[in-house]
Amino acid sequence: MGNDGRQVLVCQYVNCLRNGSAKVLEAFLEKPLADVTIVASECQGQCNMGPTVRVLPDEIWYCRVKPEDVPPIIAQHLNQGKPVDRLLHPRFHPKF
Ligand code: FES
Repeated sequence: MGNDGRQVLVCQYVNCLRNGSAKVLEAFLEKPLADVTIVASECQGQCNMGPTVRVLPDEIWYCRVKPEDVPPIIAQHLNQGKPVDRLLHPRFHPKF
């Protein structure tokens, strides 16, 4: 499967911005990928765990994302389809 129609939502609402999400958005925009749309999103309801990054249609949620986490998300997840485990939001991706 290709990357058709994927979206990366990078929350740019108050709490995430306070935790540096503008830089996270910048890091995604610096490395444009074919068929992946980067979206500056509104609040994703996970404010205490921000910056929040959500990948659609995969429904993979990342929490506390830093700019330096963006290259691995691009390389592993967006290019190779393997979500970055250490950044997964535990609410949506509980560890067993
Ligand atoms: S402010 Fe980003 S999830 Fe609510």
